[in-house]
Amino acid sequence: MPLWFVSCSEQCFYLLMGEASVARTAHPLLSVVVPTRNERDNITPLLAELAQALAGVRTEVIIVDDSDDDTPAVITAEAQRYPDDFRVRLVHREAGPARAGGLATAVNAGMQRAAAKYVAVIDADLQHPPERLRALFDEAVAHNADVVLATRYRAGGSYDGLDGVSRRLISVGLKWVAKIVFPDQLLRVSDPLGGFFLVRRSIIEGVTLRPIGYKISLELLVRCRWVRLVEVPYHFHTRNAGQSKSDFKQGMLVLRHMGRLVREVPAAGRFWKFCLVGASGVIVNLALFALLLAHHWHPLAVLFAATEASILSNFFLNSILTWRDVRNLRKQDWFWRAVMYHGAVAPVIALYLGTFALLVKFHDPTSLLQILSLVPALFLSYWLARRVVFAPRESWASLFRRTPRTRTLQEALDDTPLVTDDEAGGLPALPEAGAAQGSV
Ligand code: GDD
Ligand code: MN
Repeated sequence: MPLWFVSCSEQCFYLLMGEASVARTAHPLLSVVVPTRNERDNITPLLAELAQALAGVRTEVIIVDDSDDDTPAVITAEAQRYPDDFRVRLVHREAGPARAGGLATAVNAGMQRAAAKYVAVIDADLQHPPERLRALFDEAVAHNADVVLATRYRAGGSYDGLDGVSRRLISVGLKWVAKIVFPDQLLRVSDPLGGFFLVRRSIIEGVTLRPIGYKISLELLVRCRWVRLVEVPYHFHTRNAGQSKSDFKQGMLVLRHMGRLVREVPAAGRFWKFCLVGASGVIVNLALFALLLAHHWHPLAVLFAATEASILSNFFLNSILTWRDVRNLRKQDWFWRAVMYHGAVAPVIALYLGTFALLVKFHDPTSLLQILSLVPALFLSYWLARRVVFAPRESWASLFRRTPRTRTLQEALDDTPLVTDDEAGGLPALPEAGAAQGSV
């Protein structure tokens, strides 16, 4: 029986090589997590291409394997061909509960074991070109980035390797669903659902990742706090050997994954939570309107009371639901925040009351236009609520400063001062962990 079969749930390659080789190995600069399931014919070219691409970068490759074929044996044999500065570790998960969650938990397990400052994830089947990983790493170092995403959807990239019109439609469709559900995090990200990326390890520290299915990048982008994101285009190739494991069911899992993120992460889908609270305000408003009119209140008093009640209930619900993560607000601020909230929602309230009046009084068909004008008003109110009402005091000063946006590789390169060979002297120095982060 081969040695890799002996251990129960997992084993690392360095156990086979002996502790001495581990002690000799210096700290890696880059950890590369590779999930594998029955990829025996892809391991050799993958490792060769990775080693070539990452020459000069001390790397550990962590292969998290759920194979039923002899992929682990191939990995073990191949690993011995590489020097200490390209260390290959195998984490083999035995069939059964250890493999629960499949790809998602495999990538997570690999990332938890990573030791380097930067952690990358790449597929084993060469659909993600290993030579682009070097570009991802170089970008991260050059720009002190928190996240570097390889993208199929920018100039210089392509998704030709996605076979079939339906797979492409699903890919583009799901990408847009993700962008619409999580606009704060993803609107400017061109490929939030790809499986090829690199992150600064510190952004995942202390964050409980609970991905479902294949979209680990979605999980990271929504759950982790990051500021600087750079995108690097790449051509998504056709699979080298073996079979894809993703299917229609995986597509559906993405929707479940998104639902979980909306529920568990306060900042996820915040705009939609704000809208939902707004809708509850309409119900409060109408109910109170009917109730007070029935009690023969003066119509103006009814209007005032019903409107005020709905604004206050919205403010309360937004505080405990939409912005429940904003904990550092001072108690004495609440009064002023409630006052400011009136200002923030004033455009929506004005349009709502106007529409309501037109509908009730004149049955005016132009009210459709009013209803439509609610949309920009809603955006404005959300922006004011986010940037003023529920923002920490300190951020008020920076209200009109632009938030950092995603940059293309070209833009990033354009801003990089050119370094001559004399000055370069090997690899660029790594910035200190936790260094001050500005906008890119
Ligand atoms: N450990 C482990 N366990 N690895 C797995 C499992 C599993 O259950 N299922 C798949 N993998 C590995 C494969 O061996 C491969 O290296 C990688 O994960 C991607 O699996 P594929 O089956 O090749 O998926 P795909 O090509 O259809 O999907 C890829 O492209 C999508 C973009 O359209 C992946 O990169 C996705 O993450 C990506 O979203
Ligand atoms: Mn694939």
